[in-house]
Amino acid sequence: MSSLEQIVAAAEAGFLAAKDPAALENAKAKYLGKTGQITAQMKGLGQLDPEARRTQGAVINQAKEKIEALLNVRRTAMADAQMQSRLDAEAIDVSLPGRGRGVGGIHPVMRSWQRVSEIFSSIGFEAADGPEIETDWTNFSALNSPENHPARSMQDTFYIDAKDSTGKPLLLRTHTSPMQVRYARMHKPPIKVIAPGRTYRVDSDATHSPMFHQVEGLWIDTDISFADLKGVYLNFVQAFFETDDLQVRFRPSYFPFTEPSAEIDIAFGTGPLKGRWLEVSGAGQVHPTVIRNMGLDPEQYIGFAFGSGLERLTMLRYGINDLRLFYEGDLRFLKQFN
Ligand code: PHE
Repeated sequence: MSSLEQIVAAAEAGFLAAKDPAALENAKAKYLGKTGQITAQMKGLGQLDPEARRTQGAVINQAKEKIEALLNVRRTAMADAQMQSRLDAEAIDVSLPGRGRGVGGIHPVMRSWQRVSEIFSSIGFEAADGPEIETDWTNFSALNSPENHPARSMQDTFYIDAKDSTGKPLLLRTHTSPMQVRYARMHKPPIKVIAPGRTYRVDSDATHSPMFHQVEGLWIDTDISFADLKGVYLNFVQAFFETDDLQVRFRPSYFPFTEPSAEIDIAFGTGPLKGRWLEVSGAGQVHPTVIRNMGLDPEQYIGFAFGSGLERLTMLRYGINDLRLFYEGDLRFLKQFN
């Protein structure tokens, strides 16, 4: 074997031994690179006489072309192998059964939230959203709740380790009523709004959860009376429970921010709860002090507010007797509503 044949054979072996494109390029440099063996042979031609230089040059060139061809064969083989392994890795076994898609559903309390919004929207109420972290002023003082009101106590309210600009601790809102004042201070009457959202109290049993949902309603204009409250609320519960066979009762009560105040009870004419009075809401004519805190003149403006528990409405609609079921995330329970 001539030395050139040996170089070609060594190059072929080197190319075959290369495991990846980088190794192949290194192997190539050994023969065709600046300091490669073929290049060295070419450089040696200078010492030969012209005749010998021509014949020897042709032989070296042949060897060089062979090596280049071998290199290309190996490059192509490597690219093919890479493509094949990618195809294998990304292959889809069409004979496998499908995984199926889990279909999500809307939580029953969220369903009620949507229903309430739709019903009130149909009679011209806006829907507003407000902060769950409140100031003492919006949650209590602006709503005419005295400093010594029990709702303010540590036992009833979640206070936060941060203070507002007046130095009072911030808190998780205990009801959606702060939205009455927040909304009214940003909008001109007539004000017709509902504000559904999360609320928080230190409470936990079959009918109370530390986090729950309320929907606030507020209608302020120059002539909105208790009779309007009764009409609107009756219309609402009839639409919500999809029955006219239902009675609404306004039972005198007390809230610092309404005067007169009432608790709203409903009783179904049919069904398992037939004839039992069930409390669904607090309500009343907005107190003049609250109207003033809204930035309005109580001599000119009057109206009603209510605050209803969304869990309570949902429990009555579906006949659920334990509120904790809403928060346990048990699919056997949740699936029934979708
Ligand atoms: N905020 C009261 C509560 O949470 C309910 C209420 C709202 C009462 C509006 C009157 C008017 O109990």
